[in-house]
Amino acid sequence: MRAIYLCVSLVFVLSISVSVQTQSRPDAAVMQDLKASLVIPKHLKWSDPDACQWSHVICSDNGQLTNIELQDQNLKGTLPPSLEKLSSLAVMHLENNQLMGPIPSLVGLRYLQVVIFDNDSFSYMPPDALFSDICSLSSLEDLSLGHNKLTGIFPVSSFDNHPKLTTLNLTNNLLQGPTPRFNNSKLTVDIRTGSNSFCLDDLGLACDSRVNILFSIAESMGAESWKGNDPCPTCLGEIRNITGISFQILGLSGNISSNFSMLTSLKYLIVSNNSLPGTIPSELTTPSSLQTLDVSNNHLHGRVP
Ligand SMILES: *[C@@H]1O[C@H](CO)[C@@H](O)[C@H](O)[C@H]1NC(C)=O
Ligand SMILES: *[C@@H]1O[C@H](CO)[C@@H](O)[C@H](O)[C@H]1NC(C)=O
Ligand SMILES: *[C@@H]1O[C@H](CO)[C@@H](O)[C@H](O)[C@H]1NC(C)=O
Ligand SMILES: *[C@@H]1O[C@H](CO)[C@@H](O)[C@H](O)[C@H]1NC(C)=O
Ligand SMILES: *[C@@H]1O[C@H](CO)[C@@H](O)[C@H](O)[C@H]1NC(C)=O
Ligand SMILES: *[C@@H]1O[C@H](CO)[C@@H](O)[C@H](O)[C@H]1NC(C)=O
Ligand SMILES: *[C@@H]1O[C@H](CO)[C@@H](O)[C@H](O)[C@H]1NC(C)=O
Repeated sequence: MRAIYLCVSLVFVLSISVSVQTQSRPDAAVMQDLKASLVIPKHLKWSDPDACQWSHVICSDNGQLTNIELQDQNLKGTLPPSLEKLSSLAVMHLENNQLMGPIPSLVGLRYLQVVIFDNDSFSYMPPDALFSDICSLSSLEDLSLGHNKLTGIFPVSSFDNHPKLTTLNLTNNLLQGPTPRFNNSKLTVDIRTGSNSFCLDDLGLACDSRVNILFSIAESMGAESWKGNDPCPTCLGEIRNITGISFQILGLSGNISSNFSMLTSLKYLIVSNNSLPGTIPSELTTPSSLQTLDVSNNHLHGRVP
């Protein structure tokens, strides 16, 4: 009788400790975020309350997530910003899916060694997403971002003098600005010529100043990167005498940049159907070539200069 009682209470104690352990898994909340932001196909079986039991993930003995191996899973959706809280994450495979949106910051992940995101539809990598300082991501060896839709200027300087990084793949994206030149001699970079939207093929050579003006305009008006209909940052020949800019329906919410006035060959400027605040800068009267200015359907006030 006494033995049975002991046994029952032991089972009871054990089951309590298991459920407490499951609930207090340090990475549980982040994994729920990840599950919510991805469109998870049924075959993945991500329904157990304990994320360590899910398929395609591996946890350490203390229940922290170390591997996410979701390559070739027909996944759609985006990645949640909380990913950077997976403090023991070492390997992340997401290649050959259809994930989109920005690559969230990974700066806190000091055990992260391998990040393979090839052949998805990621669109943007914030400049400080990977290396905010020399100590962040100090274990990273392989960063593969080939065949995505990354736009913007690649943050080259964060990759020089990186202690462990040996492989970086940027081929087949929409990256802009100068073609990155890395000084890190340990680093093998796959950045096939012509497979991005760099303004020049020469490594490290600065873009035409007008391209930089365009980037400053796009940035100050709240575009993540250049998304205008005119792909002129890719074509220097046209940028020399850029005649038209169309910035319609891009959700822009920054002030109309006075730097448009520096594009002296501008004939038409269309920034309609955004959420632009403030007033129309008086500098816009400077390009004497300007013939058409469409600022309709915004939140502008004041008078037209
Ligand atoms: C890219 O991913 C898609 C699935 O999203 C797959 O069908 C295709 O074969 C992959 N391409 C390569 C080159 O692996
Ligand atoms: C880089 O990514 C491309 C896909 O865009 C792929 O074809 C190529 O093999 C990758 N390079 C390396 C070194 O893995
Ligand atoms: C790389 O090295 C060159 C020559 O030593 C130097 O001019 C350049 O500024 C360096 N680039 C970076 C990003 O540090
Ligand atoms: C205008 O361009 C200058 C550099 O030419 C830059 O420093 C400044 O931030 C730009 N201003 C805006 C509003 O884009
Ligand atoms: C654009 O500028 C380039 C270089 O200044 C010039 O050769 C070309 O003729 C110009 N094109 C037009 C259409 O004005
Ligand atoms: C827009 O311009 C106004 C007035 O010049 C300024 O107070 C405000 O900070 C600007 N907004 C942005 C997002 O730059
Ligand atoms: C801009 O917004 C107006 C008013 O909502 C609408 O009638 C017009 O079709 C929009 N233009 C474009 C190009 O979507």
